[in-house]
Amino acid sequence: MYSRIVGTGSYLPAKVLTNFDLEKRLDTSDAWIRERTGIERRHIIADGESNTDMAEQAARAAIASAGIEPHELDLIVVGTTTPDLVFPNSGTLLQARLGCGGAPAFSLEAACSGFIYALAIADKFVRAGESKRALVVGSEVLSRIVDYTDRSTAILFGDGAGAVVLAPSDEAGIISTHLHADGGYQELLYCTGGPARGPAPGSFPPGDVVRMAGSEVFRLAVTLLGRIVDETVAANHLDRSAIDWLVPHQANLRIIQATAKRLSLPMERVIVTVQEHGNTSTASVPLALNVGIRDGRIKRGDLLLLQALGGGITWGSALVRY
Ligand code: COA
Repeated sequence: MYSRIVGTGSYLPAKVLTNFDLEKRLDTSDAWIRERTGIERRHIIADGESNTDMAEQAARAAIASAGIEPHELDLIVVGTTTPDLVFPNSGTLLQARLGCGGAPAFSLEAACSGFIYALAIADKFVRAGESKRALVVGSEVLSRIVDYTDRSTAILFGDGAGAVVLAPSDEAGIISTHLHADGGYQELLYCTGGPARGPAPGSFPPGDVVRMAGSEVFRLAVTLLGRIVDETVAANHLDRSAIDWLVPHQANLRIIQATAKRLSLPMERVIVTVQEHGNTSTASVPLALNVGIRDGRIKRGDLLLLQALGGGITWGSALVRY
């Protein structure tokens, strides 16, 4: 038994923050940001809009495209680093919105790899026969933990949500998933505080914010995402040329290009959306997947490699026959 992606959806908030907007606030330029990251704009959540609001929009789109009703869901897994509340977890908040109580619903935190982690877990529920309709969501309000006085991170992050529905299938489906973490790298990319520790004393700006050693994370991302390409291909005795589409985490165009090169895949076979929304953490892979499917590039039967790396450091991949 395999699990198969039977529906996808995504959501981006209406408000747009362009490179030109950032130029006015920070010592940076549109040319620098585009050349070093590929990002042109990010979408920023409205005042009063929440992580759960975005997750609901993406989830409803995925449920509709799967041709099911919310009450048919028997598992909800939400990957997020920016939950509305410490608890109840984001999965249950979303479940309440969808009006489908009863089934297990939980969230998990693996930073930008959170969607791949959530997908891997939901896949195992479906394969084990414990779920027939699993909703997997990545939703993120990074703008609320970005320090907009720090030009090295303020340019990178945005808000958004993406979702998929999984169902059982005799044919693959999700062929394999590969998850890794190395907590030894936690100082390279982290949030300065949390509910148990509180904000760092004397921190500016007040509240918890993202801190990142950009060039170290960049080098690590290129190495580890390249390595996981090799691992995924080898585990499935595949030739790299069998991959039809790379659907990578959308953090930096140069990291994506390096991974495509490792796969000997031309950029025309890579779904790139980073220019539109920057790094949306757990939302980025399902957002890109939804774009590639809805615009008709990704077709039924295509072989996809999904992958991501994030704070932790965590990283992971999924080989998927769409
Ligand atoms: N505008 C203009 N200059 C900037 C800048 C900005 N927004 N941010 C940094 N710089 C400057 C630096 O201060 C540095 O100046 P210096 O040479 O005078 O010291 C110079 O640009 C180069 O900095 P560096 O950090 O080496 O640049 P980079 O090419 O590595 O690009 C990132 C910076 C953040 C874009 C890049 O490192 C990156 O994308 N890292 C990985 C991010 C990522 O994927 N994170 C999330 C993983 S989930």
